[in-house]
Amino acid sequence: MKLFDVYPLFDIEITKGVGCRTYDSQGIEYLDLYGGHAVISIGHSHPYYVQKLTEQIEKLVFYSNSVVNKLQLELADKLGKISGYDDYSLFLINSGAEANENALKLASFHTGKKKVIAFNKSFHGRTSAAVRVTNNPKIVAPINEGFDVEFLPLNNIEAVEKSLSKEDVCAVIIEGIQGVGGIQIPQPEFLQALSKSCKQHGVVLILDEVQSGYGRSGKFFAHQHAGIRPDLITVAKGMGNGFPIGGVLISPAFEPSYGMLGTTFGGNHLGCTAAIAVLDVIKAEHLVDNAAKVGDFLMEELRTIPEIKEVRGLGLMIGIEFDKPVKDLRSKLLFDEKVFTGVSGTNTIRLLPPLCLSMSDAKIFLEKFKKVISLV
Ligand SMILES: Cc1ncc(COP(=O)(O)O)c(C=O)c1O
Repeated sequence: MKLFDVYPLFDIEITKGVGCRTYDSQGIEYLDLYGGHAVISIGHSHPYYVQKLTEQIEKLVFYSNSVVNKLQLELADKLGKISGYDDYSLFLINSGAEANENALKLASFHTGKKKVIAFNKSFHGRTSAAVRVTNNPKIVAPINEGFDVEFLPLNNIEAVEKSLSKEDVCAVIIEGIQGVGGIQIPQPEFLQALSKSCKQHGVVLILDEVQSGYGRSGKFFAHQHAGIRPDLITVAKGMGNGFPIGGVLISPAFEPSYGMLGTTFGGNHLGCTAAIAVLDVIKAEHLVDNAAKVGDFLMEELRTIPEIKEVRGLGLMIGIEFDKPVKDLRSKLLFDEKVFTGVSGTNTIRLLPPLCLSMSDAKIFLEKFKKVISLV
């Protein structure tokens, strides 16, 4: 059987990772400024993470959600404390799309309504409701067009208020920082006004922190830069450092009932073990502070490079926009300088490194980046 060919691939096979470095099947070393698309939070193959997963795999890989799983309780406790959401509840699933799918479902159950407001350039995943609120018609199949969505410009509170005044909206969904959309940051004043309007109209505010959460922005959640408290927060990616796990943090205003939500694999023993190890390492190694410090340094240095049009970001979620396509630049970085980076659209390089990126690795990246810029 062949693979269903939906991914354009670089001809590189990554077979090993350590910290912020990956190695291909030829043993060639790469500096990882991409983290496998914001997934590697504490660094590749962190020894504590490997040890915890190894111990758990020897004990038990899986049992169903019909029995007590104390790992889920430990995870919820640690996540509540580190994020400042100790009074919220946690529902566990396996991916970012699933997290948003369940958040939208909860919002609809809660309000009895089904219209959603999302934003231009949004990306929330590829499952049915998550892709419906994603602002890219190319990836929305006819079967996904099941409810009304209004896409509004980011940072335009008047547009949101006009729409909310019709009183037919169940949820507003917004990324903490738009990732796929090119590192677009909602203004703090906009988020504060949005949170207030949602409360006034009884609309559920969903903060998609799948990419921007887990310390990446220099705070545990990107929306915490604005000081708001959304009703639902979705997480995945960095949560498991490569082990698939996602979650919805749910405000106390939501009343659970048996059977309301459910999943076979969500909250499994290995996923919880991975997620607990991630939180332990984030705390012990002060990775949120590190993301803020190294991110600030990187952005300050990048802003001195004349060829760059704009640098946007918070912490270690950085977009570097040029006024021309970055395809060659990214290829040269990868194949000549052995540095992984991401892109958004045609003109923006996206940096999403592990949160343990050191100042010296940031300097190595800057040197290689400047060298490549001078050649393209
Ligand atoms: C902001 C955001 N939400 C949701 C998703 C979907 O996550 P997953 O691919 O784990 O379903 C992504 C993935 O890139 C994302 O960036």
